[in-house]
Amino acid sequence: MSTRAYTLPLEQTQWHVPGCGAETIFNWEYDEGRDKLLHLYEKGKNNQWNATTRIDWSQSIDLDNPMGFPDEFVPIFGSTIWDKLDEKRRNEVRYHMEAWRFSQFLHGEQGALICTAKIVQTVPDMDSKFYAATQVIDEARHVEVYSRYLHEKLQMAYPINVHLQTLLNQGISDSRWDMTYLAMQVIIEGLALAAFNTIRDLAKDPLGRAINAYVMQDEARHVAFGRLALRDYYPHLSDKERDEREEFCVEACYLMRDRFLAEEVWERLGIDWQEVLTFLQNSEIMVQFQSRLFTRIVPALKDIGLWGPRIQKAFTDMNVMEFADVDLDALAKSDDEVALEFDRLMKERDNGVA
Ligand SMILES: [Fe+2]
Ligand SMILES: [Fe+2]
Repeated sequence: MSTRAYTLPLEQTQWHVPGCGAETIFNWEYDEGRDKLLHLYEKGKNNQWNATTRIDWSQSIDLDNPMGFPDEFVPIFGSTIWDKLDEKRRNEVRYHMEAWRFSQFLHGEQGALICTAKIVQTVPDMDSKFYAATQVIDEARHVEVYSRYLHEKLQMAYPINVHLQTLLNQGISDSRWDMTYLAMQVIIEGLALAAFNTIRDLAKDPLGRAINAYVMQDEARHVAFGRLALRDYYPHLSDKERDEREEFCVEACYLMRDRFLAEEVWERLGIDWQEVLTFLQNSEIMVQFQSRLFTRIVPALKDIGLWGPRIQKAFTDMNVMEFADVDLDALAKSDDEVALEFDRLMKERDNGVA
């Protein structure tokens, strides 16, 4: 992404995260590995795709409402702030919201690329190194896709949100491989998946929907990888070590829920941020939207055994305990099927059936 496309000035064009002191681990036991992980590795190899050809990049988008969402999806819909805006200003809000949202997807994906490469280096097991290697190319593809979308279609981007950057920094600079995993694969990508899901299932724009359907097909495998690797690892930790991880997750969840509210957009558009914040904190729709962000995080943490009183208390407070028994395997299967359905529809359209 060229800095020319950024709507706000960048403080720096490169972000240097100081060395984390993580140990690089070689493994001379080329054992066969765990069946489930190797199965996932096979799936990762078989399901590679090329973003240049699988996506129809010739489709144009409506810059006044890039995703084709109904107005109810605009965070400030229903407020006096929204009521006072004329149509031109409302178009600006819709446009900037998507530029901000896709920009955070893009920066988060670069974080995933870097974190997964670090996992290849630091995880002790060879089967995990194998799988993580397929994920590195998946994440590079996701960076490619969101970058191209922002560059060619939205033609505007936002710098990384400071709260996302804080969490990314914690995940990358921690020397323990599993902490990188928790911050990136469980929290950041778990939240991103919920946002991708909203676009895939509820937006109207065909290009935006297809992109997110295909990325989700890969992400479903990544979530499965995290669960398999961490589920085996966490029972070997002490209670104190597990408690540290729970504390980290609780703080990260609150950080992302309470502070990831697109404040840059409101400031950039000259809309009073404090007024927006007051409205959002009392908005029933926002509360529902924020709780849906946890659909995949809650069952994943339960599954990997980070399910002590601290986590359960936080999730009860956030009103998201209902997701504890969500079947992640069923969701992954459905993510796979939906992506294939998008392929089928595109083929039909190309053949003049639809
Ligand atoms: Fe990704
Ligand atoms: Fe991922």
